[in-house]
Amino acid sequence: MAAIEPVQIAASILSADFCRLGEQVEEAMKAGIHLIHVDVMDGLFVPNLSLGPDVVKALQPLRKKYTAEIHAHLMITDPDRYINDFVRAGADGIIVHVEACPHLFQTIRSIRSLGARPGLAINPATPLTMLEEILAEVDLVLIMSVEPGFGGQEFIRTSLDKIARLHGLLDNHHLDHVKIAVDGGINLSIAAAVVRAGAHILVAGSEIFNSRAPVNENIKALFTTIRALRLNIH
Ligand code: DX5
Ligand code: ZN
Repeated sequence: MAAIEPVQIAASILSADFCRLGEQVEEAMKAGIHLIHVDVMDGLFVPNLSLGPDVVKALQPLRKKYTAEIHAHLMITDPDRYINDFVRAGADGIIVHVEACPHLFQTIRSIRSLGARPGLAINPATPLTMLEEILAEVDLVLIMSVEPGFGGQEFIRTSLDKIARLHGLLDNHHLDHVKIAVDGGINLSIAAAVVRAGAHILVAGSEIFNSRAPVNENIKALFTTIRALRLNIH
């Protein structure tokens, strides 16, 4: 079992009520979220369309007020075309897909040279060996635990083993600076297992933004689950 480190929750705004986006993001930040995850889809790399740099720009006042970070998760073909736009819009982290980038060293280095944190996302069926050579260059690996494209899908259980193997790989290579984020299907029932497997960041969309309970209550419940786990371990 991986050592339990402080775990962050990133709020994926894909499931937010877009009519009240600012209000909901502020509620999330007041509830202790310091990481906002913006899903960008082009209808080609994934079969859905979603958000662009203007949304990252619109969230800047909240980002500054609550000293939060915004990560743009680019589920798009040829993401190099848009990296500059997202950095200029105020994204702190840019996450590209290993499946979408034939020249990863170039892409990752250009993200860093523009002043943002580079992250690398990997689809559920893509083996970890695809990113082994470039692990040292990134700040974050985003393990997709659903097929990218839509919120509200069921967590793919084989992701737990993949998270643990990535944790081992990072340990073996002494890459403590690389954070493991897990995206898709995170809910109260699976959160503990994901943290136990070695995740540092849980990306949650529909578990935070839903009609069951207010955003702050949903976030509180997730933090409580994670904290309870940490207490049990130590
Ligand atoms: C899926 C996106 C996720 C999505 C997660 O393609 O990358 O960030 O918002 O949504 P939930 O938490 O509902 O699975
Ligand atoms: Zn995402």
